[in-house]
Amino acid sequence: MTLSDCIPVPDLSILKLPAALTALAPMQDVTEIYFMNTIAEYGCPDYFFTEYFRVHGDSGVDKHILRSITENITNRPVFAQMIGESIPDLVRTAKLLSQYPIAGIDLNMGCPAPRIYRKNVGGGLLRDPDKIDRILGELRSAVAGNLTVKMRIGFEDTSEFDRVLSLIDRHNIDLLSLHGRTVKEAYHGAVHYDLIAHAVQRLRCPVLANGNVSSAASAMAVLSQTQAAGIMVGRAAIRNPWIFKQIREAVAGAAVSVVTLAEVRNYIDQLYRMQQVRAVPEKSRVSHLKMYLNYIGQGVDAAGVFLRDMRKAQTEAELFGICDRELLSQPDRAFSPEPYQGLFARPSCEA
Ligand SMILES: Cc1cc2nc3c(=O)[nH]c(=O)nc-3n(C[C@H](O)[C@H](O)[C@H](O)COP(=O)(O)O)c2cc1C
Repeated sequence: MTLSDCIPVPDLSILKLPAALTALAPMQDVTEIYFMNTIAEYGCPDYFFTEYFRVHGDSGVDKHILRSITENITNRPVFAQMIGESIPDLVRTAKLLSQYPIAGIDLNMGCPAPRIYRKNVGGGLLRDPDKIDRILGELRSAVAGNLTVKMRIGFEDTSEFDRVLSLIDRHNIDLLSLHGRTVKEAYHGAVHYDLIAHAVQRLRCPVLANGNVSSAASAMAVLSQTQAAGIMVGRAAIRNPWIFKQIREAVAGAAVSVVTLAEVRNYIDQLYRMQQVRAVPEKSRVSHLKMYLNYIGQGVDAAGVFLRDMRKAQTEAELFGICDRELLSQPDRAFSPEPYQGLFARPSCEA
């Protein structure tokens, strides 16, 4: 693949538009090329972010990540997200990536996984504002295009939040995606939208509000509460890939489209087709599809029958049998715009 085969560098003037922006949140093993291209069929976000890739002394540019940039047919800008703490390696990688048609370089300062933050990368960086200062300073000098940050509101607590926001401003970061929880809060408890609102007031750059945006209605509430330039949606977009179109409808004051269970069944087929290009055994295809179905199942039935039975399925035939039974017996029934209460995609992380 040569650079001339890549998609053209997208027009980023949208960063300056006042309308609410939308972005698909970076998610490991989810926001790869197939999912980005699939979601675009249902209502594309304005921006994509690659899942993070680890930068260290021996790292190059991950081929898998590059594919989500060079083979992206959505015609929407893709930010390349790095995670690391070695300044020379981050700078070297940012320069390498800048040769590709990316919307910008994004630095992960939020990952809450202990195996990550213990290495002082991702969310671990939030414990060390001096290091953040040095990293952002060097990256800003090295990156001529957009330099963006995705972070949380603190590590253990929010005592350094204002200091980190000052660094975001001082180093002329072009866009901040802010998940309104601390690293230690992981995915539990309420999102602190008041602190996202605080960042919006303090910063010169646009802020994307992130965390628990579950529907067009909740996006509207978060936009109103935070006055953010836009919304970044992660897990809800796996469950409901129509969400970006629905947010645009809500922002425009139009009726929000209703999605039927039959349409969701088609989406599942699309997710399955996207995997068929991988030459992997049936067992791996089943477990990969189940990863998406764990999210989708939150909107199928309030009693959680689909989720319960789907999780037990071993073969593709069993899995699709359950999908047909639960989604096509009442094909015109509405898919719930919000997850049903008490249903979790990742019960060990989110319940
Ligand atoms: C499975 C999964 C993988 C994730 N991987 C990344 C990642 O690679 N980089 C990142 O910055 N955030 C990652 N996140 C965090 C999301 O980008 C987002 O901040 C978080 O899910 C909160 O948004 P949501 O409530 O809309 O899902 C991940 C989240 C999930 C659920």
